[in-house]
Parts: sequence; structure tokens; C-alpha cells
Amino acid sequence: MQKILVTGGAGYIGSHMADMLVKQGYDVIVLDDLSTGSEKLVLNAKLVKGNCGDKKFLAQLFSEHDFAAVMHFAAFIQVEESTQKPGKYYHNNVCNTLNLLDAMVEHKINNFIFSSTAAIFGEPEYTPIDEQHPKAPVNPYGTSKLMCEQILHDYALAHGLNSICLRYFNAAGNDPEGRLGSMHEPVTHLIPLVLQAASGRRKNISVFGSDYNTKDGTCVRDYIHVLDLCQAHLLALKQLLKTSKTAAYNLGNGAGFSVLEVIETAKQVTGKDIEVIMADRRAGDPEALVADSSKAQKELGWQPQYDLMAIVTHAWKWEQKLNCHCERSEAI
Ligand code: UFG
Repeated sequence: MQKILVTGGAGYIGSHMADMLVKQGYDVIVLDDLSTGSEKLVLNAKLVKGNCGDKKFLAQLFSEHDFAAVMHFAAFIQVEESTQKPGKYYHNNVCNTLNLLDAMVEHKINNFIFSSTAAIFGEPEYTPIDEQHPKAPVNPYGTSKLMCEQILHDYALAHGLNSICLRYFNAAGNDPEGRLGSMHEPVTHLIPLVLQAASGRRKNISVFGSDYNTKDGTCVRDYIHVLDLCQAHLLALKQLLKTSKTAAYNLGNGAGFSVLEVIETAKQVTGKDIEVIMADRRAGDPEALVADSSKAQKELGWQPQYDLMAIVTHAWKWEQKLNCHCERSEAI
């Protein structure tokens, strides 16, 4: 049984990944400091509380366990916050990743799967965005992730630490049975916010900008189901363990949906009326972000399974669970 370290495994994407790995028969250790994650999202894996900034702790962890690979999800992810507190993002997303990589080199662990983002590309020069697209992030969050990709490139050459960087477009949806999801506040992503408006946990949803050069004037995004992302990680892990080949892949459905189309889908799925407020543009939002994932499809054999309807349906299960516990003032 191969042992995998999942950092950030008590968070939204990491918890889905840890769950999938356990189901696939891997021995999973989740490393999480619970700053944004929750113990309740670690279902079957072993949780070790700790932070990648703690070198002594990492040395101890790596001497106790013989990991076949590390999957690194632990990072801060809020674009707007990163513009206000860049140091927070560079310390956690870059310095702590560097600590983790150094500990891996020290203990001769050579396989690393990295949670990257479409934000490394910045304002798109063309869509769909393939791996060759220029990388010019427009906020510290995206820069922090691009810096890690560059560090990984150098560590592969210098230390033989092989990695696969997976660049997510708009991660969304939840475990279909409603067992897992994000419990972190504040919620800033479109789909959970729209569903809060449907459940009554918020009054309405603001649409940030309706004068973009898109089909209905609102921003277009490529929403990809969290389980499809996890499936890509699993395929990447298998490829890395087999070939030791460093690579990077863009992950999305390849279909763009506008903010209004997402709201319309949410109305259909929930059967609820959702109050929509047309608001000003949000600073830093690119007009349209759609992935070209043909490289991942060709080289990893990855094929996303879930469309927007399924994403919103599964996210609605999670929202109903949160709402129900909220009404009863209970923790999940
Ligand atoms: N939006 C609204 N109202 C809201 C929230 C969002 O209209 O209340 C709009 C946004 O303006 C945007 C779209 O919905 O056009 C999607 O917004 P999200 O905040 O859900 O996601 P982003 O596209 O801003 O961010 C995603 C990832 C980031 C990544 C970024 C790449 O979540 O991690 O894409 O640009 F960095």
C-alpha cells in the first residue's frame, strides 16, 4: 500500500482528494493546520495537525513515514485578499512550499503533485487557454503559484524532485452524496454564493459587471467539478510514479458559462427564485477564462465527467446541509 501525504487535506479540494485516495486503496496522511480547513472534512484518512512552515515538524513527519508522493493543496486562495496582504500569500504559498520541498529532498521523496491555478496566466491573450499561453499573473495569489511552478522546475533539474503541476480553472461542485465541501468563511466563489441566495442564507446575489464583451455581458468561466479535478490528480500521480516525468496541465471542462447562466442553472436545480442585483465590475476579473485541457486528456487519459448541471446539483446538496445545521445552530 503506497503512502501519500496530502497537505491541506482538511480543505475543500484536499478533503475530496484524500477521500478518493483512501477509496483507491492508498494509505493517506493528511497534514493540515486547520487554519481554513476542518477536522470534520477528514473522513477516513489520518489527520496530522501541523504547518509546512515548521521545519522541525516536517523533518519529524518525513522520518516517521515513507511517502511515495506528496500532494500539496495547503495554500491561501483568495485573490482579493492576496492584493491586500501579499506577505501572507508569499509566506504561506511560497516559503512554506519551499520548506516542504526541502524536507522532501532531504528525505529523498521525489514525487510531488502541485495544486496550481489558471491565475498564473493573468489576463488571457487568447482562449481557450493552453499550456503555452504566456504566464503573467495579475495578483499576488497567481504570482505565488507561478513562483512555486518555477521552483519546481529548478528542483527537478537540481535534485531530481519530479512534479506535476495541475492548473485548475473554476473548481466547483461537491461530493455527490453531500459529505464534503468547504466550511471556510468568507465565501467568495460564485456557485456557493448563488446557492446561499437560493437557500435563504443570503438575501440576493450580486452580479459583478454586465458590460463585458461576452454573450450576455457577464463574465465567462470554465467550471470544473472537484471530483474531475481529483480524478486528474489520481491519473497524474500514477503517471508520475511510473514515468518520473515532470509536467504541467490545464484542467477545465473547456466550456464557458456566464454568471447569468450559472444563476439560471441554480434556479433550475433548486426550484427557487433567486434575487439578482446587477452590480459594478469586481477589480481584477478577466472577461473570459476557458481551459484547453487537450494535453491532460491526451497524456493522462483524463476525461471530465460532470457538467454544470451536475456541479450545481451536488453543490446544492452541500448548501442544504450547511443551511440545515445553521438553522439548528449546530456544527456539521
Ligand atoms: N461573481 C459574481 N458575484 C459574486 C461572486 C462572483 O458576479 O458574488 C462573478 C465574478 O465576478 C466572476 C465569476 O463570478 O466573474 C466567478 O467568480 P469566482 O469568485 O467564483 O471565481 P474567479 O473566476 O474569480 O476565481 C477563480 C478561482 C481562483 C483563480 C481564478 C483565476 O477561484 O482561485 O479563477 O482567475 F485564481
